[in-house]
Amino acid sequence: MTWHFAQLKAPISSNRVTGDVYTSGEMGKGLNGEHLLLILAKDLFRLTTTLKQKSRLEKHVSDQRDQQKSLTTTDAGIPAASDEYSLSVGPNGPLLLQDHYLVQKMAQFNRERVPERVVHAKGSGAFGYFEVTEDVTQWTRAAFLNTVGKRTPVLIRFSTVAGELGSADTVRDPRGFAIKFYTEEGNYDLVGNNTPIFFVRDPQKFQDFIHSQKRMADTDMRSNNAQWDFWSLSPESAHQVTFLMSDRGTPRSWRQMNGYSSHTFMWINARGDKFWVKYHFKTEQGIANFTDAEAKAMTAEDPDYHRRDLREAIQKKDYPVWRLEMQIMPFEDAATYRFNPFDLTKVWPHKDYPPITIGRLVLDRNPENFFAEIEQAAFEPANMVPGIGPSPDKMLLGRLFSYPDTHRYRIGTNYLQLPVNQPRVEVHSYNKDGSMRYRHNGDQPVYAPNSYGGPQADPERYPEPGWFTSGEIMRSAYTLHAEDNDFVQPGNLYRHVLSKTDREHLINNIVGHMSQGVERFIQERTVTTYWYQVDRELGARVAKGLGLEIASELSASVGGE
Ligand code: HEM
Repeated sequence: MTWHFAQLKAPISSNRVTGDVYTSGEMGKGLNGEHLLLILAKDLFRLTTTLKQKSRLEKHVSDQRDQQKSLTTTDAGIPAASDEYSLSVGPNGPLLLQDHYLVQKMAQFNRERVPERVVHAKGSGAFGYFEVTEDVTQWTRAAFLNTVGKRTPVLIRFSTVAGELGSADTVRDPRGFAIKFYTEEGNYDLVGNNTPIFFVRDPQKFQDFIHSQKRMADTDMRSNNAQWDFWSLSPESAHQVTFLMSDRGTPRSWRQMNGYSSHTFMWINARGDKFWVKYHFKTEQGIANFTDAEAKAMTAEDPDYHRRDLREAIQKKDYPVWRLEMQIMPFEDAATYRFNPFDLTKVWPHKDYPPITIGRLVLDRNPENFFAEIEQAAFEPANMVPGIGPSPDKMLLGRLFSYPDTHRYRIGTNYLQLPVNQPRVEVHSYNKDGSMRYRHNGDQPVYAPNSYGGPQADPERYPEPGWFTSGEIMRSAYTLHAEDNDFVQPGNLYRHVLSKTDREHLINNIVGHMSQGVERFIQERTVTTYWYQVDRELGARVAKGLGLEIASELSASVGGE
């Protein structure tokens, strides 16, 4: 035992000394004996002085460390007897059950993980603030937006969608862009993506869509075949898939991409006037994307590339900034707009509703503890503050239920009491108890109505944001507006927004993806009923890339060209 210890120690201490001696030896090369002796004597003196200084310094540092060091305790705060040794009978055991600290360490370790998010599992984020730069009181009464110059603390979490907790940041996928505003009227969560549109328009299809993107039942591997099968049978996905297969599907960093509400929301001003709005957070760092090859190379080189990039930028005080631009539609326009403005697969053309800049978002603080502040962060689209409400977008309405439900399962009943999720205002609800509850309202009455001074809602002051609706109960697609069509907007994206190089990359990316494990009949269907419909040239080029011969009568495009 002693022998082993000595063996281990020797190289460490001798290394420290020999490092300096080798240096003087090197310097002595090529000199005569007298000079060498002189230099060696000087070196010896310098070495002794350095060692003395070093040991004084080391002692000073270790004294300082001792002063700063806090005592290890158990989680109950009791000083622990050792960081290294379990409690045993004699040096060679057995171990004793009364070693409470060891038992606690093992038990806590076994429970370190909470389930990862069912989607958007891999991500990270940072804190910062939102600042109002334009008077928006004509459109909304939201208190955090009521004064130019007002700042509200925020948390943002960025993420990929389909991969698991340990997956790579740079894979082709939409990126989550979830914002929590800690406002004076409670938390406002805007849970968007870096894409202004989405794959489906009815929440009934969301779970199936995600299943098609994640691992298969039999192989437990992802399947391109399943992805194209689902997409080609869901024409409403064409717009988002065109976006995803372009280089925007592989952003260079989170700092260099935009964030969108994607959904339409309602804004209500102090007079009760209502507007339909969309949020666009435009990156001030400029859009930058990886090509497919660059993204794949980075996946292998650094799976945490985006996470690292954000953290390091903030560490260097190179704070990322986004400009908030709003598209605002008068309430009455929606009924007769040329396409359904609440359809999440569509954008509102800027010429119809020009974006108005109203604020800036800045990230300037990294989380101190990833688990506590990012992994346990819980965003929920249902968190809307007075002056902001939902729209009839069915996807948004579905999401209002989904998120708090998943948080209760993933984090626990009282997830809203965790510091990162808890609002910066007092909470006075009639909800009570449940697992791990620690905040409470003392002896506040536990039911309403009551005669004992419990909190009271004020429906006059805080009316429910809503709209008039009536109709037979049914399962149905949205009523079509005059120009509703799944292929016109992706066609315009292909022809008028993407550059020539972007179009080439898009085609290569589609062909590359569809060449990997996609069955012939799904390739054919996707080309004829999907890409040809978006744009004839796009269809023809994808067909050529896949070596498909498509009969001309099948290839009539409805996307415009
Ligand atoms: C019916 C449609 C949808 C459903 C049911 C749904 C459901 C979910 C669920 C269950 C999570 C995991 C949440 C967690 O564990 O914390 C999640 C995360 C997320 N979803 Fe959705 N989602 C839908 C559509 C969308 C859309 C349209 C967007 C963007 C416009 C979006 C953006 C996000 C983001 C950004 C996250 C990650 C939030 C975070 O960073 O914690 N989702 N979604």
